[in-house]
Amino acid sequence: MTSNDAGLSVPDWPLSQGQLMPPMVGGVLYEHGHRMVAATVGLLTIVLNIWLWKAQSYPWVRGLGLIALAAVIVQGVLGGVTVLFFLPTPISVLHASLAPLFLCLVVTLSVVTSSSWVHLSRFLMEGWREALKGTERELRLAVVTTLALYLQHVLGAALRHSGTVNGTKGAVLVTSALVVHLGGAVAVTGLIIVVSRVFIKRIHDPTIIRLVYLELSLLLAQLFLGWGAYLARIDPANQVQPTVAKVWITTSHLTIGVLLLATSLVVTLKMTGKAVGKAASKNRKSPLEPALAGQIL
Ligand code: HEM
Ligand code: HEM
Repeated sequence: MTSNDAGLSVPDWPLSQGQLMPPMVGGVLYEHGHRMVAATVGLLTIVLNIWLWKAQSYPWVRGLGLIALAAVIVQGVLGGVTVLFFLPTPISVLHASLAPLFLCLVVTLSVVTSSSWVHLSRFLMEGWREALKGTERELRLAVVTTLALYLQHVLGAALRHSGTVNGTKGAVLVTSALVVHLGGAVAVTGLIIVVSRVFIKRIHDPTIIRLVYLELSLLLAQLFLGWGAYLARIDPANQVQPTVAKVWITTSHLTIGVLLLATSLVVTLKMTGKAVGKAASKNRKSPLEPALAGQIL
């Protein structure tokens, strides 16, 4: 929707052009389509919460579900507010920055509700500090990389929405936003390379190594797409905007960006599971069965 500059194709909210289902023509296809997908995501998050309350006994897992529900509600309200106030840059950037956080919450829920984590949950609450000691350096690296990728996403959102005047995306990029985003790209590239080297050398876990290779491939694609997004943005103004290439390249840059963030988060969670599993198997009061700990490791 942003790449097609369709944010104001439907100027009202919560109804769309005063109806539940307006004719899906022009930019309305993107704007109302986005609202319909958002409503489906909201409903699925409610279903997810009902399931968590029925099937999960750990309060922190249920709590994560509630935070995800709150995030999707705030996300919807921010979407509505940005429409009602003609796409003010700060609200659009906030809306673009909460979206990957919501994705991270859902990804975390999918990992911590997997069968191998069910046995870990009680240890995670009791002695996570002690559990994480053994793998502190590797885990810290994974956490910092994930946080840096999220920050890079926010900087990308600021860059994407810079030059916005009442909903009209300027053809030019704000240089300072571009320079900061490029600096961020250098930093996350360095971090991912360091994480990959350390993990490939020291972590003998095929799942984590496979994820690290996936992260490296996504990074390579992301750097090419970033360059493409830049070239598409400085397109000569005499072309009819937005060009198909611009829409595809910028949307792919955003999509690969969130996939990169999600992969880094899964690596971090797997590293946490590995550390907690190791400590849990040594727990004196009620040790985790070695066979189960082996599964997690
Ligand atoms: C599940 C809920 C939602 C999610 C995950 C979500 C996610 C997103 C994402 C990722 C973008 C692109 C950001 C960017 O290009 O930088 C976007 C743009 C946008 N969204 Fe949503 N959205 C949601 C709900 C809504 C709702 C309910 C509305 C209500 C009208 C809305 C209105 C908009 C608008 C107007 C834009 C374009 C902003 C601009 O061009 O400045 N969103 N949304
Ligand atoms: C790993 C490195 C990178 C990551 C994770 C990343 C991530 C992102 C994300 C997520 C967005 C869109 C944010 C949103 O609207 O929600 C974005 C926008 C953008 N990025 Fe990157 N980026 C990276 C590297 C680069 C590089 C090397 C360039 C090259 C110049 C670049 C140029 C751009 C441009 C021009 C935009 C705005 C696109 C538009 O106008 O729609 N990025 N970036």
